Amino acid sequence: MKAWLLDKLGSIENLRLTDVPEPELNSGDVLLEVLYAALNPADRYLAEGAYPARPPMPHILGRDGVGTVLAVGAGVSGWQVGDHALIIRGPIGVDRAGTFAQRVAVPANCLAHVPAGWTLQQASCATLVYLTAWQALTQFGSLGRSVVLITGASGGVGVAATQLASAMGHHVVALSRSQHKAARLRTLGAAFTANPADPTWRKAVLAHLGSRHVDLAIDNIGGAGFSEMLHVMGMWGKISVVGRLAGPVPEFNTASLFFRRLRIGGVAVGSYTSDEARQVWRQVLETLAAGSHRPLVDAEFLFDQLPAAFETLAAGPMGKVLLRVK
Ligand SMILES: NC(=O)c1ccc[n+]([C@@H]2O[C@H](COP(=O)([O-])OP(=O)(O)OC[C@H]3O[C@@H](n4cnc5c(N)ncnc54)[C@H](OP(=O)(O)O)[C@@H]3O)[C@@H](O)[C@H]2O)c1
Repeated sequence: MKAWLLDKLGSIENLRLTDVPEPELNSGDVLLEVLYAALNPADRYLAEGAYPARPPMPHILGRDGVGTVLAVGAGVSGWQVGDHALIIRGPIGVDRAGTFAQRVAVPANCLAHVPAGWTLQQASCATLVYLTAWQALTQFGSLGRSVVLITGASGGVGVAATQLASAMGHHVVALSRSQHKAARLRTLGAAFTANPADPTWRKAVLAHLGSRHVDLAIDNIGGAGFSEMLHVMGMWGKISVVGRLAGPVPEFNTASLFFRRLRIGGVAVGSYTSDEARQVWRQVLETLAAGSHRPLVDAEFLFDQLPAAFETLAAGPMGKVLLRVK
């Protein structure tokens, strides 16, 4: 079969499309013909050696995807040849071969059926970002109806968090550097948008909120914007740290946490066990249905265009970037 192979860590430029042996079908696994795979920034981080996982080389990246069941391993029930299945975040593309390949063997406990009414494209790109957004929204316990600020809101996690938070009844403030994407975010559930590249963004957010402040911030970006974000937090404010697309936070003064009793919590979608992930996925689907939301696909590339797909992701998508594998 054909796959995008990573021979050594260092860069996504080390990826090459080549012939590789068929995946082995072990007990407990299901073999999928991959139809669509979705990209995540963590694929690039893994290739760069900037991610904790150290899979055996050569490795096939790709954590998300949807496919057709080709074969079912020993001990697996509930799946038939010809079914469509989507992958829930687990070892696929991290510790074992991923979805940037024509076929992939997946542990059956990391699979779910395509939700009714969803396209295959929508099903291919949803689980990782919605599970991440769910953990970011719920890790501090029940919030009540709150003001939720989301940085990098146009990206995969940002769109998922915007949709889930608005469906939960929160008042969503979404940050994007693009006017066009900000307008789109307002149609997806954001009550207010601001441009973090505009030095007056904090004033604009505080003017919009009036006597209120941000109760929960979901930060996908890090960098210098992290400290700026603290200025709009309210008393007992909480910050879910998801990503660091803008790099490390420079000169962070911990005193900025004291007086409003701010709390910072890391998010790690990989910390969900398979059982937890499946349970959270069901809650995500119920919440999305309540808000009439669906995953948002920004762009679809042909299988041999993976490098161009990574460029689109790095430029800042509006939703998810996909590979059409078949
Ligand atoms: N902790 C976890 O478990 C977990 C899980 C999933 C993802 N992540 C991480 O979370 C982050 C976001 O993931 P994602 O999938 O949402 O990424 P994404 O789809 O690439 O989107 C991120 C958005 O952030 C903005 N952005 C990108 N680079 C930026 C920069 N240098 N400065 C300011 N804004 C920038 C862009 O929005 P605008 O152009 O509209 O401003 C872009 O659309 C990544 O670091 C990812 O690795 C962590």
